[in-house]
Amino acid sequence: MQVIQVQHLSKKYQIYQRPWDKLREMLHMGEKLHREFWALQDVSFTVETGRTLGIIGQNGSGKSTLLQVLAGIMRQTRGDCIVRGKVSALLELGSGFNPEFTGRENVIMNGAILGFDTREMHRRLEAIARFAEIGSFLDQPVKIYSSGMFMRLAFAVAVNVDPDILLVDEALAVGDLIFQHRCMHRMNELRQSGKTIVFVTHDLGAVARFCDRAILLDQGRLLEDSTPDKVVQKYRALVFERESRYGFQDGAVETVGSAAIDRAGAGVPVVQGIPNIDHRFGNGDAAIIGIELLDETGRPTREVFGGQHLVIRISAEFKRRVDRPILGFTLRDRLGIEISACNTSYSGRLLPPACEGQIYTTDFRFPMPHLGPGSYSVSPAAACGDTLKHDMCDWIDNAVVFEIKTEDLVYGIMKMDVDVLNYATRG
Ligand SMILES: Nc1ncnc2c1ncn2[C@@H]1O[C@H](COP(=O)(O)OP(=O)(O)OP(=O)(O)O)[C@@H](O)[C@H]1O
Ligand SMILES: [Mg+2]
Repeated sequence: MQVIQVQHLSKKYQIYQRPWDKLREMLHMGEKLHREFWALQDVSFTVETGRTLGIIGQNGSGKSTLLQVLAGIMRQTRGDCIVRGKVSALLELGSGFNPEFTGRENVIMNGAILGFDTREMHRRLEAIARFAEIGSFLDQPVKIYSSGMFMRLAFAVAVNVDPDILLVDEALAVGDLIFQHRCMHRMNELRQSGKTIVFVTHDLGAVARFCDRAILLDQGRLLEDSTPDKVVQKYRALVFERESRYGFQDGAVETVGSAAIDRAGAGVPVVQGIPNIDHRFGNGDAAIIGIELLDETGRPTREVFGGQHLVIRISAEFKRRVDRPILGFTLRDRLGIEISACNTSYSGRLLPPACEGQIYTTDFRFPMPHLGPGSYSVSPAAACGDTLKHDMCDWIDNAVVFEIKTEDLVYGIMKMDVDVLNYATRG
């Protein structure tokens, strides 16, 4: 069943230059003193019961606005928004709690809004207090709380009132690490018990790990609605594109010592052919023309064991002069989580300036970490600049997909080399 149905949703804000302009506008009927701003435009998507949807997008893209409409705190200007079931929302700081009342009083009042009587909320208070772990601050007015404390209490309430649908807006970032783990654990429990979750975050790893589906908002419009890894890829491409434009305007140039310049391509055969292209972007100053994953004997491989020595070979052709070329790759697991990445700039093996038509080939040699069995991918990139600031010439998502095999049991994402020492005790 679809518990959330959003159709052609648009939200317009009226922006006044000065606070009293709104009043002046009301008094002088007909005089328009505001400017209109569409924070959401024609957004449509649905969420099935028991699913977890991630919402990502750059600052100001409309995520919080969308969540507030879903929570029923704000009304849309156009379109439909149907939400079925009891909603518990953890929105951006500031909403929900009354600053003058104590934490305890706010919890009871919040419960009342959600339809719980005072006795029921008193019963739940213990679990909420244990979860929030803010000690005697529970009996202090919330206006003296730090933003982390505020969020801890708000989250504790939101996840302890049996919601059918939980809406969470980026709150986890404010908590300390222990609390972030506690929140994710609790959200996982809710998810496993069949609750529907809509989760706004800038943590792309969490989207890949945690969500069944994701949507990408950009300037109020829905750019992508797909699996988390596809949506995260699209978002990364968008961010890269904007960052490289910014970096270029900045014009900062890193000086390169000639000793650090490595001769690229000497003696290494050019590799041609890209096994897979999920998504590709870049300014076209260079094109990756080939990538291969090679075993110890130099043969292409798609089955790898932890500890095995491998080479990722990447060839790129430069379409115009590029002063500070970089070649590199990112290793991801099947959920799109970045396991690691490396490039020529980061590793200090700086490439000399490339001329138009020149082909550079770089070998990245490394022992494969003892990762859990499953499918992994390599995304190659050619760029211009340095690791921190660069212009993306060509990026290909998931160009090589391969399997990691293992005979060992791997807990978590990788097996660590752990020495276990036993000490005998008397008695
Ligand atoms: N009350 C308001 N009045 C006018 N404009 C607003 C109002 N609230 C938000 N906006 C504007 O609407 C746009 C979307 O804001 P929103 O808070 O939804 O973005 P967001 O995606 O949650 O951003 P962030 O990642 O920074 O939290 C922004 O340009 C913002 O300036
Ligand atoms: Mg927001």
